[in-house]
Amino acid sequence: MDYQKAKKDIEQILSENKKDRLEQIVSYLYTHFDYYDWVGLYLVENNKLTLGPWVGKQATEHTTIPFGKGICGAAAETGKTEIVSEVKKDDRYLSCFLSTQSEIVVPIKKNKKIIGEIDIDSDTVDVFSSKDKKFLERVADMLSEHICMTT
Ligand code: SME
Repeated sequence: MDYQKAKKDIEQILSENKKDRLEQIVSYLYTHFDYYDWVGLYLVENNKLTLGPWVGKQATEHTTIPFGKGICGAAAETGKTEIVSEVKKDDRYLSCFLSTQSEIVVPIKKNKKIIGEIDIDSDTVDVFSSKDKKFLERVADMLSEHICMTT
């Protein structure tokens, strides 16, 4: 997938300002990157990560994650993108799907505060590159303007 093209398409979707734009972005990422096997947005509500729109073969049981727990909670605490090349070797990992091999979690910030995260699981080991990181951090910035803080 061409990251530049994806950025433009995502900008376009967001500029239309439709009610379901967050769902559309999640779905865009899932369908255009073959190794993005589960794509979800967690939104911060009452200081916890709460699952928002997601696309994948299966639902996760982790619909609420406290800061500091799992890979998602780690990224929320540090504000830094987490790339885990082999989830089975990371003690912090909260298991959702047996097929998952690697994961990337990208914080979404507004005025330096974490307001949500992009969480992507892949069934392929060590698949997320610095290109995915750069691209998804840009997507997170774009999404930031479209997410409201609910304390
Ligand atoms: N694996 C995540 C939990 C969320 S699922 O991947 C959808 C974690 O360790 O925080």
